[in-house]
Amino acid sequence: MKIKEAKAVLENSGQEQVIKALAGLGTDARESLIEQIGSIDFAAVARMKRLIEDGDRGQDLSGIEPAPVVKPTDEERDAARVIGERALAEGNVGVILVAGGQGTRLGFDGPKGCFPIGPITNKTLFEVHARKILALERKHGPVPFYVMTSSVNDAPTRSYFENNKYLGLNPDRVMFFEQGMYPVLDSAGHVVMDRADHIFMAPDGHGGVLKALLNTGMITDMEKRGVETLFYFQVDNGLVEIADPVFVGMHIDRSAQMSVKVCAKRDPDEGLGVTVVRDGRTAIVEYTELTDEQKNERGPAGELKLLYGSVAIHVFSRTFLKHEAEAQLPLHRAHKKVPYCNEAGETIKPSEPNAYKFEKFIFDALPDADNVLILEFKREDEFSPVKNAEGDDSPATAKRDMMLKCARWLESAGVEVKKDASGSPINRIEIDPCYAIDAEELAGKLEQGFAVSADTNLSG
Ligand code: UD1
Repeated sequence: MKIKEAKAVLENSGQEQVIKALAGLGTDARESLIEQIGSIDFAAVARMKRLIEDGDRGQDLSGIEPAPVVKPTDEERDAARVIGERALAEGNVGVILVAGGQGTRLGFDGPKGCFPIGPITNKTLFEVHARKILALERKHGPVPFYVMTSSVNDAPTRSYFENNKYLGLNPDRVMFFEQGMYPVLDSAGHVVMDRADHIFMAPDGHGGVLKALLNTGMITDMEKRGVETLFYFQVDNGLVEIADPVFVGMHIDRSAQMSVKVCAKRDPDEGLGVTVVRDGRTAIVEYTELTDEQKNERGPAGELKLLYGSVAIHVFSRTFLKHEAEAQLPLHRAHKKVPYCNEAGETIKPSEPNAYKFEKFIFDALPDADNVLILEFKREDEFSPVKNAEGDDSPATAKRDMMLKCARWLESAGVEVKKDASGSPINRIEIDPCYAIDAEELAGKLEQGFAVSADTNLSG
């Protein structure tokens, strides 16, 4: 991009303050700012400005109703498992992991996937996920793994995998791709500069995965490999059942375009998006966008009306992913503290929110799907995220839930697990997914009769 073009783009989008900044820079700094301007999606900036000017009235959520949830019988689950396992064996299933976030709430420095979570081994979240994929590959066949990073953590994520021999996975089947970045805007709709020669940028949200898959050639890669069905999950959930054959099978059997796993919310204020029907389409509404009345409304039996929360575990058909990648997701805004450059050229870290960050959410693709599956699952078996440093959804609760799951598997295999009065195992337990991927496999491997009387690490 030449300076003339850069100025025209800036003028058209009402960013004259950046033109002023350009004028005060030396040659190298000017070049680098012009290059950055060339990389910014100013059509998205125009949408952001409109949202600020309109006061972001938000969506009309007045007529929302809970979406129907599928609760399969054991027979239906068995039938779906056969279909899912066949798709895995035919190499039609890929896995998408979104790991571009910054883990601010956890206060962990580095990619969240590098956080140690294994109750005994301290395996990282990435390692726990990779071992599950490896176990699936050993059982069924190749499973391509698409990992989304952002410029905030791309280099350390790649080097973590490289330095650790791709955690046992075949590097030819681990594809990293970077999500897009958006500028942030102040209340006047101006992009915020954090240095005299730099516009502050932030990841465009996990919904950015759609455009990123398309722009980085990952959709083409899926087409080449014959991947038809994609299992999608978030990096922070160590309990996730990756490419769960029942979920995948049911998605395929129902010709769904997008599927969603849901569980009952712990309480009305739990931070889960809820599955609803809005204007005749299925949608997920983020918890922050519901009124207190909507969150707390109860049905005749006293249960929450909007009971079911999405835990960001999805299955997509590849054709639907591609279709959505070519469409446009809405933007959501949040008021945040963003470093800015003052008149003297110093970078200031504000103590109060000073700018709007905009993000896309993957679940906004849902209303575009004609066929949707919403499947109930057991929270204790599949969802215990690491979001906060302490309290609910923290490393302590995630490790506890991983151990409780192992304890249930062992008990169902006839093994005695010693527990304290609160029902927690007295000794630590960890089962490597490559030793056993599910309770049945574990039962098949274990001699009955041993008791967990010391820390037990079953690795394969
Ligand atoms: C999210 C969902 C919520 C869901 C919950 C389940 C949103 C807005 N809300 O909440 O509906 O019930 O998880 O755990 O998503 N990420 C990126 N790039 C980004 C932003 C995030 O890759 O730009 C990834 C993160 O690395 C992480 C995941 O998306 O894997 C979730 O991000 P986070 O911001 O932690 O979402 P939550 O607010 O916890």
